[in-house]
Amino acid sequence: MDAENGIGKNNDLMWHLPNDMRFFKETTMHHVVIMGRKNYESIPEKYRPLPNRTNVILSRDSTLKIQGCLVFNTLQACLMHFHDEKEKLFIIGGGEIYKLALQEKCIDEMFISHVEATFAADVFFPEITLDDWKSSTVITQEIDDKHPYRFITKHYALIRH
Ligand SMILES: NC(=O)c1ccc[n+]([C@@H]2O[C@H](COP(=O)([O-])OP(=O)(O)OC[C@H]3O[C@@H](n4cnc5c(N)ncnc54)[C@H](OP(=O)(O)O)[C@@H]3O)[C@@H](O)[C@H]2O)c1
Repeated sequence: MDAENGIGKNNDLMWHLPNDMRFFKETTMHHVVIMGRKNYESIPEKYRPLPNRTNVILSRDSTLKIQGCLVFNTLQACLMHFHDEKEKLFIIGGGEIYKLALQEKCIDEMFISHVEATFAADVFFPEITLDDWKSSTVITQEIDDKHPYRFITKHYALIRH
């Protein structure tokens, strides 16, 4: 997210930060990635479905079929599908799906890359109460020739009250 919690604009990402993308790839590899239909469509065709991951799309369109992906019409149906499997499920956006998953209280860990710039986003990460989360820094990326913006990636673990 950017300094205003922005995560996207014109159904696209707002930055190209290779080390952030690499972290995303390594973290989600061989796991399940759950995303909104708009997020899926925003991924360039040559990169989707995301390889070596079970790609899951949420859409209200009960007729939607996407080759190489599982489609669910509700988050609950999706979570039920994976209920018995000891699989790591990653909610990978966009804004509507992050909001849905946080509202449904089915998130116990988050990785957030805080990009130290502002991009006039049109999609935002939901407001969260930081007191509910214990954070630790996993990446501090300084500006260099491949990274035009500084960012800090943090891991957040839900504090159970
Ligand atoms: N920086 C980041 O971390 C990050 C990550 C991912 C995406 N993004 C950006 O986020 C933007 C896309 O986000 P978005 O909020 O516009 O869309 P989105 O969350 O990717 O997808 C929204 C779609 O999900 C489906 N949906 C929403 N609520 C649902 C529910 N309760 N049950 C079933 N399906 C549901 C609907 O699909 P149907 O219309 O088909 O019914 C809806 O149109 C893009 O700009 C993208 O680049 C940023």
